[in-house]
Amino acid sequence: MILLDGKATSNQIKEEIAIAVTKRKALGKKIPHLAAVLVGNDGASMTYVNSKVKSCEVAGFKSTLIELDANTSEDILLNEINKLNTNDDIDGFIVQLPLPKHIDEQKVIMAVHPDKDVDGFHPTNVGRMALDLPAFLSATPYGILELLERYNIETSGKHAVIIGRSHIVGRPMSILLSQKRTVGNATVTVAHSRTKNLKEITLQADIIIAALGIPEFLTGDMVKDDVVIVDVGITRVDDTTKKRGYRLAGDVHFKSVSKKASYITPVPGGVGPMTIAMLLKNTLLACENKDIAN
Ligand code: GUN
Repeated sequence: MILLDGKATSNQIKEEIAIAVTKRKALGKKIPHLAAVLVGNDGASMTYVNSKVKSCEVAGFKSTLIELDANTSEDILLNEINKLNTNDDIDGFIVQLPLPKHIDEQKVIMAVHPDKDVDGFHPTNVGRMALDLPAFLSATPYGILELLERYNIETSGKHAVIIGRSHIVGRPMSILLSQKRTVGNATVTVAHSRTKNLKEITLQADIIIAALGIPEFLTGDMVKDDVVIVDVGITRVDDTTKKRGYRLAGDVHFKSVSKKASYITPVPGGVGPMTIAMLLKNTLLACENKDIAN
């Protein structure tokens, strides 16, 4: 079994990005600038956003964090988004999800200008991606493609089973893995909460992307020998033995599944850091796109 080390791979990508930024600086070109909007004080979201901002420093980017109160109105948030859309110094920005219940997430996603949508969530980017046109790819699926590519994992002709159909991970992942691309050409099955006989399906999988958000859902008896496992889940599970009172669990029961897998991502240190690296990559691309436009 080989660990798909997302932390090491993401550090390598961040170094590559930092080199590109240094070159830009030497040529007097603009330094990429990412902004992140965080509404409320959800612990996990605060951790993710802080990691994103910290990674900007590593890559030599400028970053701006906009923190808004949990009861910020939808109108005020939309106004902030509009300011970011029109601020020429900001190359790309994200609004961390989930948002408080009184805010319509779709409305917020639609308000982000597609050219600055480095999360790749806007319908324009999702549509372009689905039609094989250049687009910002959603950072988590993009990170998974990159991880599989850098470990030379063959996907062509393989049966990839994706568990979960979220807009952020499962849906775009299913499209990307079925496309004609370096990491692609797979035969894709999307399983979800209404799927019957899931185990029969997962037992046929060469590659499994677990993205359903249920801790340790996928167990060793559900997979065949030599399967490639990508675990997208990251849930805080109460654990009184830990100082902080919780541990981080993936959607995969690592102990039993890793005994059968040829490759497997750990949690933490697998998909999570790759998501951040690809967000930076998208921001660099947004900045480069502006060079071309100007
Ligand atoms: N919440 C969980 N994952 C993500 C992500 O990739 N981007 C944003 N904006 N919010 C998230």
